[in-house]
Amino acid sequence: MSDPEPIRRKGLDNVIVADTELSHIDGEKPELLYRGVDAQELADRSSYEETAYLLWNGEFPTRDELDGFRAELDERRSLSHGVAEIVEHAPPDAVPMDVLRSAVSATSVYGDAGETTRERALSVLAKGPTALAAFGRTRNGDDTVEPRGDRDSAANFHNMHNGQDPDYRHAEILDTALLLHADHGLNASTFTGRVIASTESDVVSAVTGAIGALKGPLHGGANQDVMEMLLDMEESDKDVSSYLAEMLEDGERVPGFGHRVYKEFDPRAEVFKEIAQEVSENTEGPDWYSMLEEIEQFLREEKRIHEKGISPNVDLYSGTVYYSLGVPIDFFVPMFAVGRSVGWTAQVMEQYDDNRLVRPRAEYVGERGVGYVPMDERE
Ligand code: ACO
Repeated sequence: MSDPEPIRRKGLDNVIVADTELSHIDGEKPELLYRGVDAQELADRSSYEETAYLLWNGEFPTRDELDGFRAELDERRSLSHGVAEIVEHAPPDAVPMDVLRSAVSATSVYGDAGETTRERALSVLAKGPTALAAFGRTRNGDDTVEPRGDRDSAANFHNMHNGQDPDYRHAEILDTALLLHADHGLNASTFTGRVIASTESDVVSAVTGAIGALKGPLHGGANQDVMEMLLDMEESDKDVSSYLAEMLEDGERVPGFGHRVYKEFDPRAEVFKEIAQEVSENTEGPDWYSMLEEIEQFLREEKRIHEKGISPNVDLYSGTVYYSLGVPIDFFVPMFAVGRSVGWTAQVMEQYDDNRLVRPRAEYVGERGVGYVPMDERE
C-alpha cells in the first residue's frame, strides 16, 4: 500500500500530532484550560502545586492528597552533592538557562537509577527552583540556603534566593506566575519534550531538551527582552512612540507581542497585567506598568501591526512583575522553565501512555550525483 500524499507545512502550523487532556487553548475565544478548568480561575483561586497535582492526575486533590504531594516534593528539594557541585561551580557569568538545563540533566546522573518516571519527574519539579536559587547566590559570592519543609515551591525559591522570607503577597504573586506558565498545549518546548519521549527516552532527557527549546527568544526569551527594552527606553531620551516606530522601521519585532495561536489576546497576559499594575503601584522607581500600557496603545493604533492580529502575549507583563519582585532579569526565562516543568512532565507521561515515534520528513532539495573530490583537487 503506498503512503498517503505527504502534508507540507513549514513550522507545522495548525498540524495536530497528538491528543491531550492536559491543556486546551482556544485562540478565538480566547481561553486557556488546564484539565478543563479555566487557567484564569485557577490563577485566582488555586496554587501552583495544587494545579500541578491537577495536571498530573486529572482531578483536584483532597487536603490529604495535596499534603502528600507536597511532602513528596519536600523530600526531593535538596540538591544531591553532584548536582550542587555543577551549580555552585558554574562560572558567575554562565547563562542561568544553561545552568538550569545542566542541573536538571544531572538529576538523573546523580539520582537513583531505579526511580520510576513519576519519581524522576517529582525530582525535576522539586530541584529546579533549588538549583536556580543556588546559582543566584553562588554567582554573587553568597552561601546557598537550604530549602525548607514549611514553604511551597514559590516561597522556597524566594527564601533560597534572597536569604529571607518573602512578603506574603510577593510569594503569592510568584506562585501565580508559576501556575500561569504550567502548561500551554503543544508549544515548541513541549513538542520537543514529547518528541524525545516518543523515542522511549526518559523524562529527565525530555525536560532537558525542552529547556533548550524554551531558551530561544521566539519562545521563552521574550520576557527578558521586554524588560531589557523597557530599561533601554528609560535610558534613552526617546519617548515610547518614537522608540517603537524606529524598531518597526528597522524591521524588528516588539517582544511581548504576537502569538501563533492567540490573535485577540493571551488570557495569561490579562492576569499578569492586573498583577503588574498592583506591583507597580506598590513599588518605587520607574512606572513600568504605564510604559507597557503606552506600548500596548501604540501597537493597537499601529495599523500594520494590528492588521496582523498581533496582541500582547504572556511575556509582555510578566517581566516587570519578576523585576519588581527582585528576580534578576536573566532568571525570567528560567522561572518560566520552572513553572512549565509541570506541563513538560505531564505531557511526557501522556506521550508514554499512547506513544508513537514522532518522525516527520524533510524534502531533500540539495544536489544529487555529486562525486567525491580528492583533497589535492579541491580549490
Ligand atoms: N512585532 C512586530 N511584528 C511582528 C511581531 C512582533 N512582536 N510578531 C509577529 N510580527 C509580524 C511578522 O514580522 C510577520 O510580518 P509579515 O507577515 O509582514 O512578514 C507577521 O507578524 C506574522 O509573523 P509570524 O512570525 O508568521 O507569526 P508567528 O505566529 O509565527 O509568530 C511569534 C509568533 C514567534 C511569537 C512572533 O509573534 C514573535 O516573534 N513575537 C515576538 C517574540 C515574543 O514575544 N515571543 C513570545 C511568544 S509567547 C511564548 O512563547 C511564551
